Amino acid sequence: MLRIGVLVSGSGTNLQSIINACKSGELNAKVVIVVSDNKDAYALRRAEHAGIPTSVVMKEDFRSRLDFDMEVVRILRESRVNLVALAGFMRIVTPEFIRSFPGRIMNIHPALLPSFPGLNVRQKAIDHGVRFSGCTVHFVDEGVDTGPIIIQAAVPVYPDDTEEVLRDRILRLEHRIYPKAIELFEQGRLRIEGRKVFIKGMKKQEDGYLVNPPLDS
Ligand code: GAR
Repeated sequence: MLRIGVLVSGSGTNLQSIINACKSGELNAKVVIVVSDNKDAYALRRAEHAGIPTSVVMKEDFRSRLDFDMEVVRILRESRVNLVALAGFMRIVTPEFIRSFPGRIMNIHPALLPSFPGLNVRQKAIDHGVRFSGCTVHFVDEGVDTGPIIIQAAVPVYPDDTEEVLRDRILRLEHRIYPKAIELFEQGRLRIEGRKVFIKGMKKQEDGYLVNPPLDS
């Protein structure tokens, strides 16, 4: 069974979707440890409620980003994780962290990468006037939100959207694509080649498209 370590900073709705998928049997996996850099993160309560061990690692207790990351690596190794899932973890990890779990760290980002990397990306998408945004699960490399893309979901964006409305529209899809990305990983169906992720047995949607506004409007 795949042993997942989840890193969080906030409310943990993505963590919850992964826990639920493990519990329902949809995922042949188990969340074995939840690590937070924020002691007040509601994600910690979710983990405790699910009986999952938690660990809080605070940046002020470490002299450098590297020392912080090496403590997180130590905790993840102690829990013998095979996959590290960043789920609303609001820190950039060091190259040393990434090299500790090669090809085994995923992140979810609330935009269609490579558009809108970084922070406050939903408001940036609205302000830019894009017709679509969405979410991306990708492997983590040494850049910020630049790693090979596993799965994306697109949602429409409307000029009068508030950040909150768009956040919720995107989150509903985040909760579906993160467990799916983990399932593909667990099934050994993902192969990284350069920037691309090939998925064994993937269905193609040759005629699939999305248009916003719809062509008949
Ligand atoms: C999610 O929308 C996730 O995509 C985003 O933070 C939110 C966490 O929500 N991640 C980032 O912005 C990473 N740069 P959650 O704590 O409810 O899962």
